[in-house]
Amino acid sequence: MHQTTESKITVQKVKNSRIAQVDFKNLTFGNIFSDHMFECDYINGSWQNPTIKPYGPLTISPGAKVFHYAQAVFEGMKAYKDDNGNVFLFRPELNHERINKSSVRMAMPEFPKDIFFEALETLLQLDQEWIKPGMGNSLYIRPFSIATQVGVSASPSDQYKFMILLSPAQAYYTGDVKVVIAQKYSRSANGGVGFAKAAGNYGAQFFPTNLAKAEGFQQVIWTDANEHKYLEEAGTMNVFFRINDTLLTAPTGDRILDGITRKSVIDLAKRSHIKVEERPVLVSEVVDAAKNGTLKEIFGAGTAAVISPVSAFSYANVTYNIPSNNHEYALKLKKELMDIQHNVAEDTFGWRHQV
Ligand code: COI
Repeated sequence: MHQTTESKITVQKVKNSRIAQVDFKNLTFGNIFSDHMFECDYINGSWQNPTIKPYGPLTISPGAKVFHYAQAVFEGMKAYKDDNGNVFLFRPELNHERINKSSVRMAMPEFPKDIFFEALETLLQLDQEWIKPGMGNSLYIRPFSIATQVGVSASPSDQYKFMILLSPAQAYYTGDVKVVIAQKYSRSANGGVGFAKAAGNYGAQFFPTNLAKAEGFQQVIWTDANEHKYLEEAGTMNVFFRINDTLLTAPTGDRILDGITRKSVIDLAKRSHIKVEERPVLVSEVVDAAKNGTLKEIFGAGTAAVISPVSAFSYANVTYNIPSNNHEYALKLKKELMDIQHNVAEDTFGWRHQV
């Protein structure tokens, strides 16, 4: 439990909850939001008026800089409920650190840790009925920060709004995930913003991802912008390749998101004595491994996607099906991760944060 000595947040509760209208058994990811949201404004150099209020529309000037220069960053987190009604976050301090790193890169102010945690805990207490127990159920948490100063001069805003929304979630991907390895478009470059959860990193992927979707693939695995030789990350998740019994994943750096699920998967794999190599992964070694039968698995790892096995990839217009060996590592690591998140397994790493 995170303690604060004095509550700083004003709370305005909803009069009537919308929860009875929600079909929790048939959720599409990210379409429904809970009763309350958090809002805090950065004005005159400080964060002010932290408020929890009923979820609803904002009034923002169309001249606000977020609409013109995409000064916007976000996070993805989840809350879980165990069978006794206890609520947990998963490594939330890492999300706080990361949104601040993203903000610094986008010339935006960092958000204070005490208000971040107090906002999360108060929101989750108010909207705890929106968190359903059971494996696979969670409440997706979307903190974000946007530039609200009015003006179209191309310079950083001096006003911002930080918000947190909650959205009940089940699986992000419902069927098989098939991916295309990028050969033309790029997601990020050295010295760019690829490591940040900057809103524009995601919007920029929509067009090439639509091209992939038209061919029957859900995601693009991005490659390095210079040569398209090295595998980096997919649109909504980091990526792991199992060649023989070794897991390979690209190292984080300027271009790749430092995923919290990615980090946790590496620790869980190492605990089971699975060999993990964080190193540049050549497209050619994965294609060769697919051809000679040593490519055993590909899976994505992310907060929304959890661990999602990939069943096929396309490269240079050839589709390689991944010989199904039941996604052994992916499913084992997914179970271990979810058991910790849902308070089913002992938390030897100290990852759970009880609300
Ligand atoms: C998350 O996993 O939280 C993400 O940020 C992916 C999102 C773009 C759906």
